Amino acid sequence: MVKPSKALDRVLVLEMVRVTEAAAIAASKLIGRGDEKAADHAAVEAMRAAFNTLDFDGTVVIGEGERDEAPMLYIGEKVGCGIGTGPKIDIALDPLEGTTITAKAGPNALAVLAIAEEGGLLNAPDVYMDKIAIGPGYPDGLVGLERTPTENITALAKAKGVKPDEIIACVLDRPRHEKLIAELRSLGCGIVLIPDGDVAGVIAVTNPDTTIDIYMGSGGAPEGVLAAAALKCVGGQFQGRLLFRNDDEKARARKWGVTELDRIYKLDDLVKGDAIFAATGVTDGSLLEGVKRRKGGCITTESVVMRASSGTIRWVRGEHNKGV
Ligand code: FBP
Repeated sequence: MVKPSKALDRVLVLEMVRVTEAAAIAASKLIGRGDEKAADHAAVEAMRAAFNTLDFDGTVVIGEGERDEAPMLYIGEKVGCGIGTGPKIDIALDPLEGTTITAKAGPNALAVLAIAEEGGLLNAPDVYMDKIAIGPGYPDGLVGLERTPTENITALAKAKGVKPDEIIACVLDRPRHEKLIAELRSLGCGIVLIPDGDVAGVIAVTNPDTTIDIYMGSGGAPEGVLAAAALKCVGGQFQGRLLFRNDDEKARARKWGVTELDRIYKLDDLVKGDAIFAATGVTDGSLLEGVKRRKGGCITTESVVMRASSGTIRWVRGEHNKGV
């Protein structure tokens, strides 16, 4: 049971949709144009401008990178027009989750964010995170990162009442996942290999229409916190463990307050207390329809916004008739 946070005024629920809509619409001008950087830049500028109309004291805790490498929406940047006066809000954001997807007009690019009261989100450094997620309705701790893929699939299959070869896993298509994929294939599992976009990949386990039972493998740690915020609202289980390739990455994690480098984080460690998650589709995907620029100038968007304490999930279809 998640208690509602006073800092997260209910009005913010729909305001968050405006923010992700603005980013998605801006990025959509660059769908299929082969320019990842321009698409990301457009989304970042639009998201920042939208945040700065809102009366709160926001701090970006997961953003575009550290201050010296990101000109806008960097970690630690203050946003909102209530700095020093409004409620203190921590923000995790990815104005364009799936820059390559957008450049190539592939599936599942999103503009996405999560907010919580101050201190509510793990300040995840920009390193990899090993992830495992399943949908709602299973006993707590059924799967876990401390177990082998075979043990996890066997336990999940038993709980679902099917054979392991009927389980469908979603995995990012990367050479680093060769061993994982081989193990899943040896069990006969179906594997949905995604080119990018593991926020949508993780959330897919909560949507029976995707038929995906489990998400496995490593991706960005910031994306892990964003996906965890969504699962905290919808239900389901998620675990993440930071992965470090060198001492520099470990030092960055320590700088953001991570002390136990090997820790396995559960949902409530990644997102404490109440949270709001919002996403707007940039390109069509399993979660949301993408932005469509229609004849006559109307732009349509599809978004989802959810809140952990109320468990409410709103699907919002926008028609932007004056263009953007
Ligand atoms: P970007 O939007 O930053 O391009 O991220 C896309 C993404 O696929 C994420 O969804 C995922 O977490 C991460 O990249 C995986 O990283 P890598 O491409 O290095 O395997």
